[in-house]
Amino acid sequence: MPSPKNIPTTLADKHILVAVCGSIAAYKAAFLVRLLVRQGAQVKVVMTPSATEFIAPLTLATLSKNECHVSYTNAGKTNWNNHVELALWADAIVVAPASAGTLAKMANGLCDNLLLGVYLSARCPVFLAPAMDEDMWKHPSTKSNLQRLQSYGNTIIPVNNGELASGLHGEGRMAEPEEIVTFLEQALQPTIPTKLTGKKVLITAGPTYEALDPVRFIGNHSSGKMGIELAMAARKMGADVQLILGPSKLSVPDDIKVTHVFSAAQMYAACKPHFAKSDVCIFAAAVADYTPKNVAAQKIKKSDAEFSIVLKKNVDIAAEFGKIKKKKQLSIGFALETNNELAHAQAKLQKKNFDLIVLNSLNDKGAGFQFNTNKITTVDRNNKITKFGLKSKTAVADDIIHAIETLL
Ligand code: CTP
Repeated sequence: MPSPKNIPTTLADKHILVAVCGSIAAYKAAFLVRLLVRQGAQVKVVMTPSATEFIAPLTLATLSKNECHVSYTNAGKTNWNNHVELALWADAIVVAPASAGTLAKMANGLCDNLLLGVYLSARCPVFLAPAMDEDMWKHPSTKSNLQRLQSYGNTIIPVNNGELASGLHGEGRMAEPEEIVTFLEQALQPTIPTKLTGKKVLITAGPTYEALDPVRFIGNHSSGKMGIELAMAARKMGADVQLILGPSKLSVPDDIKVTHVFSAAQMYAACKPHFAKSDVCIFAAAVADYTPKNVAAQKIKKSDAEFSIVLKKNVDIAAEFGKIKKKKQLSIGFALETNNELAHAQAKLQKKNFDLIVLNSLNDKGAGFQFNTNKITTVDRNNKITKFGLKSKTAVADDIIHAIETLL
């Protein structure tokens, strides 16, 4: 393992207190501690007594290179773990996994173990990485506890959607250790002014669903991931971000203002009040080009073997705003193509009055909908073409935001 002192990361030499609660996800705390140490952070661990049933304190002590604290007193009960000292030592506390029980106690100021005593004594930023089953995650009491914790200034690290300990599939899975480290890096990095600092950035993202009747719609496979990553990358650069998000299963960090919409018409309407004030508009949504001409008021019943739907053209959101765009406003579009990729992207750049277009080809492995990776080429108004390699959508978002920064 390289010497932490040689690594110039945001987390280098930061004092991070990892607080571990009783949850199946507790085993991931070992990976988290190891990653934080690799980033050059100084790590201490505090655990609830029930967390020790899931992972041994010895494992976390060894990986963190520090004693692991579980109770107010140490073996032999000759000295005590000073919760206030531990809390003041920390530059940041990350509760991972944060169980429903501990979140409830934190929200209500309960203090029946060392971890909670440390939490109540903390003056540093506190990050919570919840881990629980989907029904527990969606329970109104959990939601209200999380809201209360946010009102105390604590930050929730978004949960993932996936396999859960119960065997069910859904929301509530703790963020992966790598995601938690990236989240901490972004949240803790010193704010250096950039060209995007204070700039208003409007982003459309996700799919749109076009209703056929009260229960059916026409949609597409967009997950919204690229647009959400762009919102996070712009926010990281100090921008004031407004996201207009079509139906997406992904959660959005709290510091991004989001308006949820369903259809293309709603997306257009939601953009309208923000467009004129925006310095940068990024049209990352996969907007349906057509919508059913008539939406049935009641569920359509099956009758004949064949069934046709008459579609009418939807508003082209990017093109409409392209018509009224001011010189000082930047407009960025996306083109997902399958053939004649560059030519199609260049035509869209002109037609929709974009300043930059981001092209991805479905012929590139790992690019496009549903992947966590993307491979892009950007084309600007001077026909400057820049090709990028296959990267995570987080890294791609950073590349796009940097390209926008150079255009400002
Ligand atoms: N776009 C939009 N509103 C629409 C359609 C597209 O804002 N109704 C935006 C997209 O967000 C993207 C760009 O326009 O930034 C290009 O989208 P794309 O679907 O590739 O272009 P279309 O003009 O719909 O062309 P086609 O589907 O025929 O390739």
